[in-house]
Amino acid sequence: MQNTFRLRGFQIEDLRRVTEINRECLPENYTDFFFIDLFRRFPEAFIVAEEDGKIIGYIMCRVEVGLSNFGLGGLVRKGHIVSVAVVPEHRRKGVAEAIVEKATENMKTRYGAKQCYLEVRVTNEPAISLYKKLGFEVIRTINGYYADGEDAYLMSKRL
Ligand SMILES: CC(C)(COP(=O)(O)OP(=O)(O)OC[C@H]1O[C@@H](n2cnc3c(N)ncnc32)[C@H](O)[C@@H]1OP(=O)(O)O)[C@@H](O)C(=O)NCCC(=O)NCCS
Repeated sequence: MQNTFRLRGFQIEDLRRVTEINRECLPENYTDFFFIDLFRRFPEAFIVAEEDGKIIGYIMCRVEVGLSNFGLGGLVRKGHIVSVAVVPEHRRKGVAEAIVEKATENMKTRYGAKQCYLEVRVTNEPAISLYKKLGFEVIRTINGYYADGEDAYLMSKRL
């Protein structure tokens, strides 16, 4: 099936719609400042998917320097997927796969990231399946990571 959505970089004018999708799809919500700050620092890693001129999904990331998730020793530049969501009406069409792939590619080529990681609720099967399909592996469990006490998997992939 032909994709009917397209990807483009986030722009400030998209803030309302992106925060709306964030609140509709995830319990982890952020201030406007948080979104804008990440956009200003890592614009190539903040991507939206749109269909018929309307935003249907987004991904927001940051690039950090830290210890390798693969125990390689020393500090590495790592992409961190902070938030990703696709509106319910447009799921299972490959939107998330496309935006995660685009963001990780940009974190590698534009920001020099050697790995990419994220936290995901241990019960979030759609997201865990998505990341596994894209080559991420579970590195460890972070107990009580979320505000409601749920555990997270830390998942990572070499870029
Ligand atoms: C997780 C989420 C982003 C997936 O978005 P999506 O656009 O529907 O995902 P895609 O269509 O690109 O799916 C790609 C792959 O992910 C996996 N996947 C996606 N949804 C799935 C589901 N409901 N059940 C099982 N696997 C699923 C599949 O492997 C799928 O490939 P396939 O369709 O060839 O089987 C979406 O369900 C969502 O926004 N959820 C709420 C927010 C959220 O949980 N974000 C992640 C936080 S870490």
